[in-house]
Amino acid sequence: MSGITFDYNEEYIRGLIYEESDILREIEEFAHKNRVPIVQKETARFLELMLTIKRPLNILELGTAIGYSAILMSMYSSKNSKITTIERDISMIEEAKKNIKKYNLQNRIEIKQGDCLEVLKELKDNEYDFIFMDAGKGHYNHFLPECLRLMNKDAVIVADNVLFRGMVANNELVKRRKITIVKRMRNYLDMVSRNKELITSVVPMGDGIAITTRRKY
Ligand SMILES: C[S@@+](CC[C@H](N)C(=O)[O-])C[C@H]1O[C@@H](n2cnc3c(N)ncnc32)[C@H](O)[C@@H]1O
Repeated sequence: MSGITFDYNEEYIRGLIYEESDILREIEEFAHKNRVPIVQKETARFLELMLTIKRPLNILELGTAIGYSAILMSMYSSKNSKITTIERDISMIEEAKKNIKKYNLQNRIEIKQGDCLEVLKELKDNEYDFIFMDAGKGHYNHFLPECLRLMNKDAVIVADNVLFRGMVANNELVKRRKITIVKRMRNYLDMVSRNKELITSVVPMGDGIAITTRRKY
């Protein structure tokens, strides 16, 4: 049980997703074999859809791992788009660099090494039109003010794992050692839901995603 949806729905939805790309299939297989956490299939499809609708040119990702979602985003956005992705784990970065080079995406994807909060502080205001938050579940609330500064006026944030195996919505599921992450994730969801300048939709898909943008009207 994912703690988010019924297994039969999840399995059915995943069954509808046909992976056309050999590149992505290859990285997925490596990730599963080596227990590297990558975005879930239905969330990956949702990202592809968002990118197709939004057509961002400057994309920022928090959490590269081995480059799966960065490569996926490069494939589903314009050839002129650029992806900046942040990762602190050196061994992940090495593997991501190998994948990026293998598929000749060095001109499209730049990895910034370091802790997200530190790296975010170094980036320029209003620079990004799409942000994928997928690192440091216990710090989304700390990343948010920086992300709001970095977003241009039409930008979208997609934050993954916001329901965290059901623990965020249901106290009975909370494991003791995860209490801080859960509290901070609730804080993130409150921040993006209560801020009158923002509009957010929380979707119980994968491990839970929250999509946020600035209100226009
Ligand atoms: C879920 S994985 C990212 C998966 C990737 N987005 C994908 O779908 O292919 C999260 C990654 O974030 C990294 N990470 C966690 N906390 C971080 C932080 N505070 N700063 C930078 N990287 C962090 C971890 O090392 C891990 O590789």
